[in-house]
Amino acid sequence: MSKFIINGGNMLSGEINVKGAKNAALKIIPAALLSKEKITIKNLPDIEDVSLALSLISDLGADVKRSKGQVEICCENINKSELLPEIANKFRASIMFVGPLLARFGEVKFPHPGGCVIGAGGRPIDIFLNSYERLGAEIIEGEKYYQIKAKKLTGCDYFFPLISVTGTESFILTAVLADGVTNLKNCAMEPEIEALAEYLNKQGAKIKGAGTPTITIEGVKELRASDFTIIPDRIETGSFAIMAAAAKSKITINDCNPEHVLILLNIFKMINIPFESGNDFIKILPAKEIKPYNVKTREYPGFPTDLQSPFTLLMTQANGSSLIHETIYDRRLMFTDMLMQMGADIIMCDPHRVVVNGPSKLYGKKLISPDLRAGITLLIAALIANGQTEIDNIYQINRGYENIDDRLRILGADIKCINSLKI
Ligand code: EPZ
Repeated sequence: MSKFIINGGNMLSGEINVKGAKNAALKIIPAALLSKEKITIKNLPDIEDVSLALSLISDLGADVKRSKGQVEICCENINKSELLPEIANKFRASIMFVGPLLARFGEVKFPHPGGCVIGAGGRPIDIFLNSYERLGAEIIEGEKYYQIKAKKLTGCDYFFPLISVTGTESFILTAVLADGVTNLKNCAMEPEIEALAEYLNKQGAKIKGAGTPTITIEGVKELRASDFTIIPDRIETGSFAIMAAAAKSKITINDCNPEHVLILLNIFKMINIPFESGNDFIKILPAKEIKPYNVKTREYPGFPTDLQSPFTLLMTQANGSSLIHETIYDRRLMFTDMLMQMGADIIMCDPHRVVVNGPSKLYGKKLISPDLRAGITLLIAALIANGQTEIDNIYQINRGYENIDDRLRILGADIKCINSLKI
């Protein structure tokens, strides 16, 4: 496996360009299954999860032509509706392929997406299964697979039992060709959902209310072709803004949408992080003293769970105590034990809440990236730590941050990537 070696303490400066949003791309790609015409997706990030999604759609028979930053997909000759487990098992968003295949072929077979069937263990999919049934499908659950069949899909009314981003997106993708009208309530409101609806409406879909808690989908017979440009990655944007603040460095983040990280920018104002922003940039300036702040993660437009890990790190550099409350996931604060190994003063109150006391000097350590957002957090911690840090399992960083080591090196970071097998 490859690893990053980082020597901390360098002052960073310069500009970094935000890539297309991973969590938009992973829905726009399966949406291509709903049309038989060639579509072009631009501003596509060159990351592992996108490669997996393109491999999965190719395996189904799509014609895929990828070039730098974009891809052409034609799903005219899709010849099967079974997701290849070796690929589908590698990323949770593979479940986004199920709805479009069900809508187009009336049946689909896919593996359990990790963990046990529903709920405990892997990330649950009960909302997805319920949505297919509510639209008229029958679910056969096998040892290793789900088989879903539907003679036809009929629009329905549905109230989400909890707010789910991919649950909302999957319902839209499954209902867009159904007979009749689907009314969804208690929907997620992330910008990636609005972007997906905008893309589908450009192709002739009739979706209203995306970005609000109530979405109406009037089923149509077919979708036409369309070109689409992926929106900027708001989590990359927030991660880089937090990195600049933690490193007390002047960094301009380009090609971003500050509107999508307003909550972070408002918190920056409250904790004395100076910045300027415009239509498509945020310029972070060095803070003299960072104030502590209590954060509770919430669905959009609340504080995003995907920025909780980097923000927790930032609070290790604040003057005082901060309470971080992770309300969305059960295990998303586990990475804090690695920050404590680096010298951070963090008290785990319960699996969902930690108190961070700062400021703390951090020291380089040998670490393993446990997941994507904790991984980028450990990388940022290494940049501001004294001494050398090794981060192993960097697949769990590269799968969501394109060429991250090259991009940080341009800012002045002392980071290199080595293949740990060679040592
Ligand atoms: C999306 O995951 C994102 N992934 C996540 O980003 C993000 O953290 C999350 O939304 C919340 O913003 C993609 O878009 C590919 P949820 P998703 O369904 O949709 C529970 C990253 O780092 N739930 O909104 O899977 C679930 O366990 C990733 O880029 C059920 O109980 O998240 C969680 O507690 C990580 N049953 C809560 O809902 C279900 O059927 C919210 O999860 C589905 C979800």
